[in-house]
This record gives sequence, C-alpha cells and structure tokens, in this order.
Amino acid sequence: MNVLVTGANGQLGMHLRGLAARSEDRYVFTCLHGTPEAETIYLDICNGEALDLICRSEEIDVIVNCSAYNDVNRAEDDSSMANMVNRTGVGNLAAAAKKYNAVLIHISTDYVFDGRKNTPYCEQDAPAPLGVYGESKLSGEKTIIASGCKYFIFRTSWMYSGYRKNFYGTMVSLLGTPGEVKVVCDQVGTPTYAGDLAEFIFRLISSRRVNSDFGLYHYSDEGVASWYDFACAIARLKGLPGKVVPCRSLEYRQKAARPHYSVLDKSLVKKTFGVCIPHWEESLEKFVKSQK
Ligand SMILES: NC(=O)c1ccc[n+]([C@@H]2O[C@H](COP(=O)([O-])OP(=O)(O)OC[C@H]3O[C@@H](n4cnc5c(N)ncnc54)[C@H](OP(=O)(O)O)[C@@H]3O)[C@@H](O)[C@H]2O)c1
Repeated sequence: MNVLVTGANGQLGMHLRGLAARSEDRYVFTCLHGTPEAETIYLDICNGEALDLICRSEEIDVIVNCSAYNDVNRAEDDSSMANMVNRTGVGNLAAAAKKYNAVLIHISTDYVFDGRKNTPYCEQDAPAPLGVYGESKLSGEKTIIASGCKYFIFRTSWMYSGYRKNFYGTMVSLLGTPGEVKVVCDQVGTPTYAGDLAEFIFRLISSRRVNSDFGLYHYSDEGVASWYDFACAIARLKGLPGKVVPCRSLEYRQKAARPHYSVLDKSLVKKTFGVCIPHWEESLEKFVKSQK
C-alpha cells in the first residue's frame, strides 16, 4: 500500500517516520515548514491541487493526516487560519480520499467537549467546544463525515513526545532549576504518548485492519490525571529539582477556555480493534527511561 503522511514533522508524524522504516508499505512523508528531511515532499494541505497531484502520482491508498493548527490560545485571535487548516485543509484531504478511493486517517481532539461531564466521554456524547481550536477541529470532523470518503477519526488528548513544543518539554525546562512552578489541578484528562498512537495507527495499516470498521473512535492512553499530576510524575521520573505547586484555572488565566474534564472512553476502539492501550504513567516511565 502507498501511505501519504501529512504534517510529518509534528509529534505524531515523527513517530510514524520511525515506525515506517520497518514497514513493507511505501510511505510518502510531506511537511509544511522547516528543512525537510530526506525524501520529504513539501505539502500545504490547504493547497487542494498540490494534494490531488501527490495522491494521483503516488497512487495513494491511505492518507494519515498528522497536520493541524494546534495552538489553542493563538487560535482565539486567529480563527481564520485555524479554520483554514483544520476545516478547509481537512476538507481537501477528504475530497482527495473520496476521489482516489483512499482511506483517510484523521486525528481530532478531546477539546471538542465542554468538560461538564464527570465520567469518560464516549463517541455518542454531544460535542460542545469551548474555543476556536475545538470548534475548528469539530468542523473538520463534520467535513470528513459529510464527504462520503472512507475515514477513521481518532480523537486523542494531551499528546506529548520528545519532539516539538509540548507540556512534557515545557515542564522539563521549567522544573530543571530549583523553585516553584504552578500547574493547574482542576483540568482533568489523560496524557497520551505520541508513540502509542503512532504505533496503533501503524499497526492498523500494516495489519490491513484499515480496510474495514471505518468511523469515529476515541484513543488516548489509559488512566486519569490533572495537569498537576502529569507535572508531578514528570518531575519525579526525571528527578528534577523544581517543585510543582497546584493552582486553579482561575489563577492561571489563558486566552482559551479548556474543559475541566476531558477523559475519553476507549471501549469502542478496544472492542473493535482488540488493542491493548497502556496506562499513561507506564508510557511516561518508559519514555523517560528511553530519553536517558
Ligand atoms: N498535541 C496535542 O496535545 C493534541 C491533543 C489532541 C489532538 N491532537 C491532534 O493530533 C494531531 C497531531 O498532533 P501533533 O501534536 O503531532 O501536532 P504538531 O506536533 O503540532 O504537528 C502538526 C504539524 O502540522 C503541520 N501543519 C500545520 N499546518 C499545516 C498545513 N497547512 N499543511 C501541512 N502541514 C501543516 C505543522 O507544520 P510545521 O512543522 O511547519 O509547523 C506540524 O508539523 C493533530 O490533528 C492534533 O490536532 C493533538
């Protein structure tokens, strides 16, 4: 199979690059900015013609969309760009998938929910995004569903890795020197190691399970944590000198509102694909050890 990966320099994309090295399928990696690594093609998903050309010339069977406008705070002042990438760009991917009979694998977010529940969100729960980022991701989902293409949408949460800017890297840097760091304790969700989601997607493709059971699924690591819990675990596992101090969202004002609770129910993805999802603490520990 020929697999197109967009946004291949992001967290998820970088993990897929590593896995693809041991694949029998042919992966075509594309990226937007930066110095493309060897054999990476420039592709802006907002350019429908360029996308169409790549899908046709490379005879693409599966598109894995790792690209997104992900800056939750900036999106509040930059809704046109957030929507351009997360809705229009995603619409281009869905249209290309439909035209070339390819399967689209797309990643969405727990931020499509408002967080008023206090039990895990399942796929049937009504989305109600609190901000522009969540709204733009939700409209991307709707565009895919309306397109009539074969799709998988995996909503995930709180992704971290050793690549790019993410909460893990920020905490390692802030807690690397003695002193207090305030971290919110009243937003609860699940940290997800980008490598876990990449591995799941990679196996879906290589096992050919990618050809059936299309639809919308939730996939994050297992367990529940606040950002404070996550920061404490990072500090403990890395042996960092900084002290994590809990605070409330009201004390740590951010441009965009975030859900207070966004744990995802993974029953459907586990039942459908027989996947065994690791607990977030187990994955974090493995990741920290691999960094040493
Ligand atoms: N990170 C999280 O906590 C989180 C949580 C829930 C869901 N998700 C979703 O998971 C997916 C992967 O996230 P991630 O953390 O791996 O993302 P990421 O590290 O922010 O990478 C996103 C990539 O998309 C690229 N990109 C942006 N606009 C583009 C465009 N118009 N055309 C092509 N590429 C474009 C970026 O390019 P540049 O390198 O040039 O900027 C970047 O490489 C996204 O759909 C995201 O919404 C992420």
